[in-house]
Amino acid sequence: MDEVPRPELFDFHGVSLTQYFTENWENVRNFQARPDDILIATYPKAGSTWVSNILDLLYFGQREKPIPIYERVPYMDICHPEVGAGTDWVDKLPTSPRLIKTHFPVQLVPKSFLEHKCRIVYVARNAKDNVVSFFHFDRMNKSQPEPGDWSSYLERFKHGKVVFGSWYDHVNNWWKKKQTYSNLHYMFFEDMVEDTGREIDKLCSFLGLTPSVEEKTRIVGEVHFDKMKKDDMLNYSTVPVFDLKVSPFMRKGKVSDWKNHFTVAQNEDFDEDYKTKMKDPTLQFRTEI
Ligand code: A3P
Repeated sequence: MDEVPRPELFDFHGVSLTQYFTENWENVRNFQARPDDILIATYPKAGSTWVSNILDLLYFGQREKPIPIYERVPYMDICHPEVGAGTDWVDKLPTSPRLIKTHFPVQLVPKSFLEHKCRIVYVARNAKDNVVSFFHFDRMNKSQPEPGDWSSYLERFKHGKVVFGSWYDHVNNWWKKKQTYSNLHYMFFEDMVEDTGREIDKLCSFLGLTPSVEEKTRIVGEVHFDKMKKDDMLNYSTVPVFDLKVSPFMRKGKVSDWKNHFTVAQNEDFDEDYKTKMKDPTLQFRTEI
């Protein structure tokens, strides 16, 4: 069978996207959220699967029958011939609350989430590790545009010419949203790596959940990188468009892997450019812990 060609990137309401995120746009835009829906929002590769698994375990515990994470926490943005429309997956969810994942920048999130004051969990990851993770993901995900070589990819990332657009706009605009929208919990990937239990505590206090000490300890163990990497319900080994021989979905799960990718010159250029785009002193990222 012929390989389906990789999609092209184009501008959609000021954000770089591919057809797989625009073809179902009318249904996404008009999506009717329920007041108890919980939206998990991240720039791609910032830890959405990790936080999805944590929330799923907090609300629903261990499932009797294994269900892949992308069915438990549907990715509402997508519409792809191999997986169908994310909004249909959400409509099929039997759970309450419904846990829903998005990578949309805040201005593209369906309005009804905000009108219903739904709780939103946003996860941000430092730009350097984020772009490295995204590069490897785009290499192995045949439904993403061709990433090309690392140095050209890095340039495109700086200019927002990757799927879901500018990392800088994404993290900043969600951060700004938090100032006016109180039902938003803004988390950092680096904090999760540093102390997963502490971050789960903060998440629980935002969600109004009070798991027992034993339950929390169990969840911290369940969501460890090594455990998730081995679990076929979490490692996306069942997704046909991912070529895990090129790069696994659960790749390293570390902070500072960027040091293995950036040259000294790339790092200097990146830092210069970063300063011009990240002007808000209240939003600080850690590139090492
Ligand atoms: P790396 O490519 O750096 O390894 P997303 O789920 O939003 O696509 O993000 C994927 C990134 O989160 C990958 O980063 C993946 O390894 C990392 N990740 C997923 N689960 C993790 C966990 N339990 N602990 C640490 N990192 C995790």
